[in-house]
Amino acid sequence: MIKKSIFFLGIVFIAIQFYPRNNNNVAKNSSTYTLALSETTSDSVLQIFKTSCYDCHSNNSVYPWYTNIQPFSWWINHHIYEGKESLNFDEWGTYTLKKKNHVLHEIEEQIQKGEMPLESYTLIHKNAVLTEPQKKLIFDWVKRN
Ligand code: HEC
Repeated sequence: MIKKSIFFLGIVFIAIQFYPRNNNNVAKNSSTYTLALSETTSDSVLQIFKTSCYDCHSNNSVYPWYTNIQPFSWWINHHIYEGKESLNFDEWGTYTLKKKNHVLHEIEEQIQKGEMPLESYTLIHKNAVLTEPQKKLIFDWVKRN
């Protein structure tokens, strides 16, 4: 019975590997609205966002090899989908003033509470953990905007 179940799970595991995935690398060329072009954003702030947030909050995610394995891949894409819905740095320039102010407030709050970047992400991406000086740079950036 157990042998059969393991065999069955193995088949399912192999089968789902053939399921197509949607890579979040859609808009390499449409950088007109990206945060990188915002005048109030210094290179150091941009670099922090790129390292710690862009995989889930931009139009271009970096996919390490293990993200090709299902069901891991679905799980990650779900994070990216939800993350981009709240905040997409590559569409920063399209935000209205009201939306921008709301998102700025949320960024500050999420970082203060330690909710972002997601823990499941920093577990693997150690360099994405925000240091105190990095947090300060972001809070100053929020105030400038
Ligand atoms: C591994 C993916 C991932 C990373 C990395 C990540 N986020 Fe998120 N983020 C999400 C997801 C998923 C949501 C939506 C669900 C939620 O609020 O938990 C979200 C939501 C948000 C929201 C909206 C919260 C709200 O309640 O409206 C903000 C603001 C945010 N993230 C900022 C950041 C910042 C800033 C960073 C980098 C310091 C970052 N995130 C890194 C996945 C991520």
